[in-house]
Amino acid sequence: MNNPRIIVALDYAAPAEALALAGRLDPASCRLKVGKELFTRGGPALIETLLRRGFEVFLDLKFHDIPNTVAGACAAAADLGVWMLNVHALGGRKMMEAARAALADLRTPPRLIAVTVLTSLSEQELGEVGLSGTVEQNVTRLATLARQSGMDGVVCSPLETRVLRQLLGAEFSLVTPGIRPQGGDAGDQKRYTTPAQAIHNGSDYLVIGRPITAALDPMQALRAISAEIEAALKG
Ligand code: C5P
Repeated sequence: MNNPRIIVALDYAAPAEALALAGRLDPASCRLKVGKELFTRGGPALIETLLRRGFEVFLDLKFHDIPNTVAGACAAAADLGVWMLNVHALGGRKMMEAARAALADLRTPPRLIAVTVLTSLSEQELGEVGLSGTVEQNVTRLATLARQSGMDGVVCSPLETRVLRQLLGAEFSLVTPGIRPQGGDAGDQKRYTTPAQAIHNGSDYLVIGRPITAALDPMQALRAISAEIEAALKG
């Protein structure tokens, strides 16, 4: 089955802009990520439109609440028909287990993944909220907890994938933003890799925004990155 590795981040405030960009992409070549801002503005109607156009959608709402509430939110997201959704591992084991249980009876449940440590947080800030140790130690601990709690994978930096792949096995999905094609504009991404490096390091899915959405020809940019990924998968 066709399993595109690229998830295009629709980081737009206006649903019309997101739909215009989606209209320039081929649903057989990518999936789409809808985050908090776009979903808050576009709501379920936007998701339904994207699905009707043939796209699979990663609903990136990073649920983090008491187990009962997160379970309900996950069931609601699954009802929308999304392909992937996520929760914060910091919500704890019981919250993640409740999220998993909420999807247990579905014939084709969405892939359920966890966010470990937000990359915007420094070691000092982690200390301020009571998390001791380095960022890497926290990422490793939370990713391990996520797997034990029934998650299908985690979102992580492409620079963390080697360690996590080794630790968590081949079946655990690693979803990585922070991707920049060779010679591309890094923008505000500080720790990033090329698509080929991300694949070599063990990424399953690459979340890519501006290198595609800001390109003059988004479909051509998507095709070029897909070709780089295909070559890396063979090599
Ligand atoms: O435009 P760019 O490729 O930088 O977009 C990356 C996407 O991945 C954005 O939606 C961003 O919010 C998301 N993301 C990230 N770094 C993280 C987690 C998510 O860049 N650590």
